[in-house]
Amino acid sequence: MAMPLPDSVTLTRDPAGSLRSWVESSAYSRVGVLLDSNSARHCYPLIREGIPQHDTIEILAGEASKNLLSCEAIWDRLTRLQFDRHSLLVILGGGVLGDMGGFCAATYKRGIDFVLMPTTLLAQVDASIGGKLGIDFQGFKNHLGVFRNPRQVIISTRFLETLPEEEYLSGVAEIAKHCLLSDRDLWNELRSQPPRDIDLDKFIRHSVAFKAQVTSDDPLEAGCRKILNLGHTLGHALETWHLNSGHPVTHGAAIAAGLVIEGLIAIEKAGLSKDDLDGIVQYILRHFGKVKSLPDSETLVSLTLQDKKNKGGSVRYSLLKAIGQPVWDIPVDADYVKRALAGYAGLQI
Ligand SMILES: NC(=O)c1ccc[n+]([C@@H]2O[C@H](COP(=O)([O-])OP(=O)(O)OC[C@H]3O[C@@H](n4cnc5c(N)ncnc54)[C@H](O)[C@@H]3O)[C@@H](O)[C@H]2O)c1
Ligand SMILES: [Zn+2]
Repeated sequence: MAMPLPDSVTLTRDPAGSLRSWVESSAYSRVGVLLDSNSARHCYPLIREGIPQHDTIEILAGEASKNLLSCEAIWDRLTRLQFDRHSLLVILGGGVLGDMGGFCAATYKRGIDFVLMPTTLLAQVDASIGGKLGIDFQGFKNHLGVFRNPRQVIISTRFLETLPEEEYLSGVAEIAKHCLLSDRDLWNELRSQPPRDIDLDKFIRHSVAFKAQVTSDDPLEAGCRKILNLGHTLGHALETWHLNSGHPVTHGAAIAAGLVIEGLIAIEKAGLSKDDLDGIVQYILRHFGKVKSLPDSETLVSLTLQDKKNKGGSVRYSLLKAIGQPVWDIPVDADYVKRALAGYAGLQI
């Protein structure tokens, strides 16, 4: 049975109209629209007419902007424009802008309303749901932040028409993760088609409803929310290693590799069947390929130890017992990672 979308999320073909309805439903004193250089060019024209009176704030696109300096620029502009506590910030962009703009809104004058209008597939199916906001600091990702939900998330697939292919695939990796965690039938549907041909509305709806359910059951990640780390313990480590070695890979490519390597671990540690693993491997290799180079397992394990989700010295993973049956908090020691990494390295495309 399909899970319902939460009231706070709208999926629409008319993003300007949905934004107008939201703005008109509340007596905001001022409205600001936060943009990055790409969303300003490609997405802003689709919503501009929705709100007659507003100011815009533009930040340079990219993860490198997700820092305190950009926050200062945003807070500075809100201050100069004399935004008061009854103002609204509309955030139009990908996960970088959503995390950072939400953080700025949540802290400006102890918090003003904000609406997220995610414009990447990754932000639509993942980053805009669950209330995690924040910025990078001194080389540590999402090091400063808060939990706070937007008043509304307005999602439109119309924004995705200009999205570069690798950014689209990054979102598909998160959709795959959500299907693997929750629904064997949907996973089978996803893998029966090329990523560009999927019924986007259906998969976005499922991801949003599923993530919203998990995060409302466990908003502060004390327990079951940890399942969302599937593929991410090793995926994040790989992403960091590639970034530090000067050959960055997209988040989606790293997570896709993480899903496979953690799948190999799950065979030994969680009882995942060989058939289920084969399905995952085939899908990922066909559509994402393999990451071009790999660190040795000691380096990879030492990177997983830095993950802020760990407690003490032990690394705990979310793994699949079967498709749709995740387990979490499974301690995995370095030997397993070493064998799984060798297994991944030996896979033939
Ligand atoms: N809060 C959460 O729960 C959560 C979850 C997952 C990821 N994140 C965060 O999300 C960020 C990654 O998000 P992202 O992948 O959306 O990155 P992003 O925001 O950097 O967007 C990717 C690129 O696409 C461009 N872009 C955005 N919309 C576009 C459009 N419609 N057409 C053309 N180009 C467009 C952006 O300008 C950028 O260059 C990371 O910082 C990550 O930490 C947060
Ligand atoms: Zn992710």
